[in-house]
Amino acid sequence: MRDFIQALPKIELHLHIEGTLEPELLFELARRNNVSIPFESEAEVGEAYEFTDLQSFLDIYYQGANVLIHEQDFFDLTWAYLLRCQQDNVVHTEIFFDPQTHTERGIEFDTIINGIHRALAQAEVDLQITSRLIMCFLRHLDEAAAFTTLEQALPHRDKIIAVGLDSSEKGNPPEKFQRVFEGALAEGFLTVAHAGEEGPASYISNSLSLLKVSRIDHGVRCVEDPALVERLIADRVPLTVCPLSNIKLRVFDSMAQHNIVELLRKGLCVTINSDDPAYFGGYMNDNFLAVAAAHSMNPREIAQFTFNAIEASFTSTHEKQRLEAIVNDELSLLLRQAD
Ligand code: HPA
Ligand code: ZN
Repeated sequence: MRDFIQALPKIELHLHIEGTLEPELLFELARRNNVSIPFESEAEVGEAYEFTDLQSFLDIYYQGANVLIHEQDFFDLTWAYLLRCQQDNVVHTEIFFDPQTHTERGIEFDTIINGIHRALAQAEVDLQITSRLIMCFLRHLDEAAAFTTLEQALPHRDKIIAVGLDSSEKGNPPEKFQRVFEGALAEGFLTVAHAGEEGPASYISNSLSLLKVSRIDHGVRCVEDPALVERLIADRVPLTVCPLSNIKLRVFDSMAQHNIVELLRKGLCVTINSDDPAYFGGYMNDNFLAVAAAHSMNPREIAQFTFNAIEASFTSTHEKQRLEAIVNDELSLLLRQAD
């Protein structure tokens, strides 16, 4: 199973670039930029990464981001993630970034996006990894701050495919950002939103109807509303599920209790993603392995996660056909070897 998962081409659709900051780079950037961090050693960092819920993670995650100052820092962060993609056979990735985490500290919007974008462009040439960029609004901040961020993004619209919504979910419902999302849609951006991770199923339905999202990030609490589940199946609404994240943040008590395989077998367009891999203990292969180990799955079912991700991705039809051909070729080879 390990060999099959390693060889299977993968597509990632839910990845916060700030969540890929590994302790080693955290320390290097802290030194390079003379920024103090609340840890003495990499071992101490590991001990601090014990979370009880989403907020306990976010508090540490925003602190870590303080070491990102210069365009080169954003490049280095993104490039390190892309090298991990190469290791895990991730052939296409759609990356979130949180500009407000940085602009609130006085970092220019251009510094952030130019560093990330330069790494993505280089990966297309050097690593044959294609990508898209999604700008998230921090939902614990207000509507005016989100509108300012949308304005800052307009000169870079060619680099951004969609806008999203992340950070503290409970108490920050989708309707808080309805007008901002209307503005983003009018500017030609697609939309996505984190919903139904810690928040109720109604946040999922309201993200669909009010924010016109093309995908739901997480969405695992959809099962609390059977009519919503039927709607997700009928409309093939993709859910970008993050298994290891959900265990670390205690959305489920164990991987055996995670509902991702149940959702897949019901016919939902569920996908596997790593969310904030430096904090949650695993990149794409680790997430696939953890799901496959806890649930009895056959290779075709595992490959279905990749086909769902291709269907759910924001690439062109032509690009989807190219990705499907890559996966089909590899899959028939692997299944022949297995027989
Ligand atoms: N949920 C909400 N906000 C986030 C997450 C998440 O899993 N990761 C980074 N920001
Ligand atoms: Zn997320």
